[in-house]
Amino acid sequence: MGATIVVGGQWGDEGKGKIVDFLAGKADAVVRYQGGNNAGHTVVVDGHEHKMHLVPSGIFYGKLSIIGNGVVLDPAVLTREMAYLEGQGIDLAPLRISECAHLIFPYHIVQDAHEEKQKGDARIGTTKLGIGPAYQDKSARIGIRVIDLLDEEAFPELLRRNLDTKNNLLRRVYDDAGFAERDYETMLDTYRTYGRRLRPFVTDTAPLIEDAVRSGKNVLFEGAQGTMLDLDHGTYPYVTSSHPVAGGACIGAGIGPTLIDRVVGVVKGYTTRVGDGPFPTELMDEVGSFIRERGHEYGTTTGRPRRVGWLDLVVVAVSRRTSGLGYLALTRLDTLSGLEKVRVCVGYRYDGQRLDVFPHSLKVLSRCEPIYEEFAGWEDIGGVTSWDGLPGAARDYVTAVAELSGVPVAMVSVGRDRVQTLQLHDVF
Ligand code: IMP
Repeated sequence: MGATIVVGGQWGDEGKGKIVDFLAGKADAVVRYQGGNNAGHTVVVDGHEHKMHLVPSGIFYGKLSIIGNGVVLDPAVLTREMAYLEGQGIDLAPLRISECAHLIFPYHIVQDAHEEKQKGDARIGTTKLGIGPAYQDKSARIGIRVIDLLDEEAFPELLRRNLDTKNNLLRRVYDDAGFAERDYETMLDTYRTYGRRLRPFVTDTAPLIEDAVRSGKNVLFEGAQGTMLDLDHGTYPYVTSSHPVAGGACIGAGIGPTLIDRVVGVVKGYTTRVGDGPFPTELMDEVGSFIRERGHEYGTTTGRPRRVGWLDLVVVAVSRRTSGLGYLALTRLDTLSGLEKVRVCVGYRYDGQRLDVFPHSLKVLSRCEPIYEEFAGWEDIGGVTSWDGLPGAARDYVTAVAELSGVPVAMVSVGRDRVQTLQLHDVF
C-alpha cells in the first residue's frame, strides 16, 4: 500500500471515515494531518458505532495512530476521546501526538462565536469550536503548541500573554467581559492537567512518519473535511482554515510529496454541505429531503441538517486537480436506492455560456445553472457484495462517474458496515 492519502472530494462528510477504516486494517500507521474536532467520523467496528473527532481510526486496530502537526487540538476533546477509547477497552499505546500541533483554548471558542455573530448574514456557518481562531493565532505566530504546553516554565507566561491579547480583542471589539484573573488560574490548572495526560503520547511525529514510509510500511494519511472547504482551493470565504487537499498532508505530517505513493478521493454518490455558501446542485425539493432522511445527513459534530444536492463533477474535477487523485472511492450508493432517476452535474451554464471549470467568483457560482446527465435509478443494494451483484443501472452509474470524472473508481460503498465495500481495483 505504501503511503496513501485519503482526501474528501467535496465539502466534507463524504464517508472518509468508513474508507479509512476499511483501509486501516491493512495499514501500519494512520496519520491525521489537518483540521480539528470540527471533523467527526463514525466508525463501525464489530457492529459497535464509535464517533471520533481527533484520534485516527487506526487505534481500533492497534495501529500506530498519529495526530500530525497540522492539526489544531482541543485537549478537552482529545482527553475525553482517550477516556472513551480506554473505556471501550482500546489500548492507547499506539497513539502519538505531534509536539508541533497547535492548541485550542476557550478564548478561541468565544472568538469564533463573536466573529460569526458579527458577520450577520455573511456568516460562514462554522462549527464554533474555535478552529478558525486557533489557525489565525498560528499564522499570527502567537499560537501555543503542544510542546509549549509541556514546558512548565514557559507555559504560564505564554498563556497570560495570549489571554491579555484576547481580552483586548474581546472587550474592545466585541464588548465581551473577557476572561478574569480567576479564569486564567482555572485555565492554567486545567491545561496543566491536560499536559500531564498527553505527555506520554507527545513526540516529534514527522521523523516517525518518514521512518515508517521509508521502511516500506503502509501509512494512511487521513484528511478531514473536503476539497471545497480548503482555505486556498475551496469556496472562499465559506471554507475551513486548513488544507484538506493532498498537499496539506505533506505540510500537516511533515514529509515531502515524493514520499507519497497514491491519493484516493472519497466522493459521495451525491453532494452535501453544512454551513453557508453557494451550492449549484442543491436540491430544495422532496428528492433532497429523501436523500437527507435516507442518508441520515445530519452533522456528526453539530447535528445540523446537511444541505443535499446531486453529484457535481465540476467540483470533483477541482479535487482531481488539486489533490492529483489517482482513484475515487464512491460512497453512499445505497442512499440513492429507490430513486427513479439519478442525475450528475457535468458542467455549468453561466450567462449563456458553458463553464467546465469551477469558478472562483462566488457571484458567478451563485448564478451557475447545473448541466445534468440523467441515469436510471436502482433498488436496494445494501446486501450486494460484488461488482457483478450490483444492478445494471448502478453499474452504469459508477462507470459513468469514472468516465466523466476521468478518475477510476477503486471502491464503492453500499452501506455503513465494513463488509459493504466493493473493491473494484486492487490498488492498495
Ligand atoms: P470551521 O471549520 O468550524 O471553521 O467551519 C468552516 C466551514 O467548514 C463551515 O462551513 C463548516 O460547516 C465546515 N466544516 C468544518 N468541518 C467540517 C466537517 O467535518 N464536515 C463538513 N463541513 C465541515
